[in-house]
Amino acid sequence: MDSIYLIGFMGSGKTTVAKWLAEKLQLPLQDTDDMVEQAYGMKISDIFEAYGEETFRTFESQVLTQTKTKDCIVSTGGGIIERDINVNWLQNKQVIYLQTSWDVIFNRLKNDATRPIWSDQKKDKQALLRKRESTYLQVATYTVPTDGKTVEQIGSDILDLIYING
Ligand code: S3P
Repeated sequence: MDSIYLIGFMGSGKTTVAKWLAEKLQLPLQDTDDMVEQAYGMKISDIFEAYGEETFRTFESQVLTQTKTKDCIVSTGGGIIERDINVNWLQNKQVIYLQTSWDVIFNRLKNDATRPIWSDQKKDKQALLRKRESTYLQVATYTVPTDGKTVEQIGSDILDLIYING
């Protein structure tokens, strides 16, 4: 089968849902954030600090093209759609957008200090979500609202969409 690419804002549950799907379908799991950290031997926060966001985005684009496009569950970083080259690359893939409201994201991440974009006090994260939303929707093969659902419900929704439509 075509790999399942999960996209969505920070805190939308991509990593958790990807693990659930990988377990359920007995498929390997890839995570572009982990791939960047492994390839460059640095934590993402350190890459941001040492080289800045643009360099991180370049690394992220490189690892995206190295993901397995068949028989794999791929969790992506929330900013994967920031680069047109990534948007184009994802265009003919099986992409699921985990659509989560600002309130839910904010509550989940309010104490998070691990994500450089989230921790950047100068950035309006709610505005960033609004700005990214149209691209997430445009890239997605299917959009799955997640508010108020368990990981099992979200995972089952994804499987239903894939099996019913594909
Ligand atoms: C980012 C999201 C992060 C990570 C990096 C940048 C973003 O991934 O790629 O900190 O720009 O939204 P998660 O969505 O897994 O938190």
